[in-house]
Amino acid sequence: MLTPEQNDLLARVGPGTPMGRLMRRYWHPVAAVGELDDNPVKAIRLMGEDLVLFKDVTGEYGLLERHCPHRRADLSYGWVEEDGGLRCSYHGWLFDTEGRCIGQPFEQIAHPEANFKEKVRAPAHHVQAKAGLLWAYTGEEPVPELWDWDRFYDRGYKQVVFSEIPCNWLQCQENSIDPVHFEWLHSNWSLRRNGSSEYSPTHTRIGFEEFEFGIRYLRIRSDTDEENELWKVGRVCLWPNALYTGHFEWRVPIDDENTLSVGWFIDPIPGEQPFEQEHIPYWHSPIVDKETGRWISSHIMNQDFIGWVGQGSVSDRWNEHLGESDRGVIMLRKQFMDDLAVIEDGGDPKGILRDADRNAMVPLPRIRAEIGQFAPTKHPPRFPFLVDQPEAVSSEYHALWAEYGGELPS
Ligand code: FES
Ligand SMILES: [Fe+2]
Repeated sequence: MLTPEQNDLLARVGPGTPMGRLMRRYWHPVAAVGELDDNPVKAIRLMGEDLVLFKDVTGEYGLLERHCPHRRADLSYGWVEEDGGLRCSYHGWLFDTEGRCIGQPFEQIAHPEANFKEKVRAPAHHVQAKAGLLWAYTGEEPVPELWDWDRFYDRGYKQVVFSEIPCNWLQCQENSIDPVHFEWLHSNWSLRRNGSSEYSPTHTRIGFEEFEFGIRYLRIRSDTDEENELWKVGRVCLWPNALYTGHFEWRVPIDDENTLSVGWFIDPIPGEQPFEQEHIPYWHSPIVDKETGRWISSHIMNQDFIGWVGQGSVSDRWNEHLGESDRGVIMLRKQFMDDLAVIEDGGDPKGILRDADRNAMVPLPRIRAEIGQFAPTKHPPRFPFLVDQPEAVSSEYHALWAEYGGELPS
């Protein structure tokens, strides 16, 4: 349980807030590389700040404050110019990826000698492409390394899926360290949905182990023991706002009441021959059933979303009753509280990597036994995580499955 003041302190990440300062010390995925290939200008909202992301003709990315420094028009309605920069659609001022003003059409005609553009700058942030995603860093210098996780390099068919969740990011992230919910929200609920009155194997023991980049959560169920990787390796609550289980799920704060769920998935490709994926597809998954107006509950992450939004716009944690199953949630909150003090003292919070030499295929703990939904399949596995995978994505994957010697369902 938290007091209303502690709750606000941990949940709110707008500009100028303590937790906002802490969360701005990390890189956040905000878009797919493919999105900017399709349309080079994109409006972004990150931690309550409106930004514009763009890719110029040289392939360089820029991330600027959304409002033009001239008279504050929305730069996401601007366009990328052939000879460089992002042009504001209101009066044509032009900005490069660093935010420098490199063109002011009428001012240059009226007062060419004044060189007014030298005096104007759009606030600019850092952006990097990695693993088919575009990552933003909007915090203070020096900029840490953007994690280069080993999983990004594994052989397989990758895809990126976005969903917008209308609630605060912290309750989404608390789900990343909540082993027992899996038994109920996913397993038992799915059994009921399928008409079964059975119960799935129950948790008999849970554990939490801290490591450099997060906290592993461990479980023993009535059908597993201490030798099982679910206990020896576990799943990863990845710092500061992700879940890693072999795929990644980032919970990126759009603002205090909205979260961008960014899923990064990898599916097997049959055979051993080298496989390189030229383009990682991206798509948006809906969360509301248009017919009923209710949340969609058919897929694993959609079930998670129901857990999160059900807690309210910003969960009122002073009304909680935490038990033993919530030990990880308590650890997570304490770590954030501790890190608020650490950054006040000028230190680095948990999970920051500064050594560029170390930042190459950094290993994360991962269960290797192919069990349950990860068991090898004769046919291409279906995508169980989010609803409405586009036909173009599944058919591309099926075509690759066949091309690499796999069998397709008849
Ligand atoms: S507001 Fe952007 S050029 Fe005038
Ligand atoms: Fe879940």
